[in-house]
Amino acid sequence: MIRQTRRQALITGTAVGGAAIALMLSIPAIGFVISPLFQARRNSWVRVTTLDSVPMETPTPFRVSVPIDQGPSTDPVDRIVYVVRRRGGQVYVLSNTCSHMQCNVHWDPKLGASGQFLCPCHGGLYDITGLNVGGPPPSPLPPWRHRISTLPDGSRLLEIENQYGERI
Ligand code: FES
Repeated sequence: MIRQTRRQALITGTAVGGAAIALMLSIPAIGFVISPLFQARRNSWVRVTTLDSVPMETPTPFRVSVPIDQGPSTDPVDRIVYVVRRRGGQVYVLSNTCSHMQCNVHWDPKLGASGQFLCPCHGGLYDITGLNVGGPPPSPLPPWRHRISTLPDGSRLLEIENQYGERI
């Protein structure tokens, strides 16, 4: 049998108590670090419009209620989504958020050869595909992840995903 002096017992008790306190204090921090691994992402696809209702070569804005995918709230937020159909068949789905300082851009059909997106804050310009072509914006308009599916009546449904990987 190992016998401890009172002093040794006190030191051992203090060390054990300190370790227990350190463990209890670290649990919230550990939980914070690893909780995203166990959190189900709330991915969802949100209807924007039927593609055939969008005029060719004319960026058209739609207000879309998008559920957010992170944090405690799942309340949707309203976003303006510009849909662009090109004659070649390409479809662009663009955020209206300027890449410079996040002002709202709008399509101005009188700018450039056949229209440009204009940011009213500092005069930023983007072409019909969202490419930054003038002023301070450092990068294109963020594109939304999107998909197109054919409905039973033959119309094509355009949806966006509630992911903000595109710097929205
Ligand atoms: S915020 Fe758009 S150009 Fe500055």
